[in-house]
Amino acid sequence: MHWPQAYKEDSGLFPKDSNDKFLYSEASYTDAWKAMEKLVEKGLAKSIGISNFNSQQIEEILKVATIVPATNQVECHPYLPQIKLSEFCASKGITLTAYSPLGSPDRPWAKPDDPQLMDDPKLKTIADKYGKTVAQILIRYQLERGHIVIPKSVTKSRIASNFDVFDFKLSNEDVALINSFDCNGRVCHLNWVKDHKDYPFNIPY
Ligand SMILES: NC(=O)c1ccc[n+]([C@@H]2O[C@H](COP(=O)([O-])OP(=O)(O)OC[C@H]3O[C@@H](n4cnc5c(N)ncnc54)[C@H](OP(=O)(O)O)[C@@H]3O)[C@@H](O)[C@H]2O)c1
Repeated sequence: MHWPQAYKEDSGLFPKDSNDKFLYSEASYTDAWKAMEKLVEKGLAKSIGISNFNSQQIEEILKVATIVPATNQVECHPYLPQIKLSEFCASKGITLTAYSPLGSPDRPWAKPDDPQLMDDPKLKTIADKYGKTVAQILIRYQLERGHIVIPKSVTKSRIASNFDVFDFKLSNEDVALINSFDCNGRVCHLNWVKDHKDYPFNIPY
């Protein structure tokens, strides 16, 4: 389930009214979860999971669930390390999938003065120490934390180098150091729908 918040049915992916205001639905993510469980019962899906859910919303899912979500796919990188949400998901047996692990530099809504994660000199220093690229450090950082990680590239050489992360390990000290770069730097905030009743990012985690 891509997001917890629902939009008006049968009106396209992100429906808006004539005043350019998003149209919401009262539909609940718990009902959606029950419907997804039926797909598993029917053999139409093997694994089902959630994305962009906060801890309270996960608690609501678990109250009605007979299947624990396989994963919660959320934005995660050194500027938004999701320490508490990661611990929470682990305590419930839910893996965390880290999206935008490289900071999503090509997101359409990026502003020219937004910080560029991959240009951070602190990460460059760590990368030089291990003889790896910053992207490889960012990917390995997720693996050290037990996360699934989904960097995106359309460039063949980058896809290859992004996989070349299994011949080294980051020390615990360096993982802790990278965690300390947290600046609540969420890039996929969708804050244009923050008045939705189920918008997930109005609480700390
Ligand atoms: N569940 C959700 O709500 C949600 C939200 C956002 C994203 N996602 C998913 O998460 C995945 C990744 O997120 P993302 O695309 O936002 O961000 P990302 O993986 O952090 O960054 C992708 C960008 O990094 C560049 N890049 C990739 N490898 C590189 C390397 N080794 N060196 C330098 N630059 C590199 C890519 O360029 P090139 O492609 O030009 O090589 C692209 O511009 C996608 O599959 C996306 O669908 C999910």
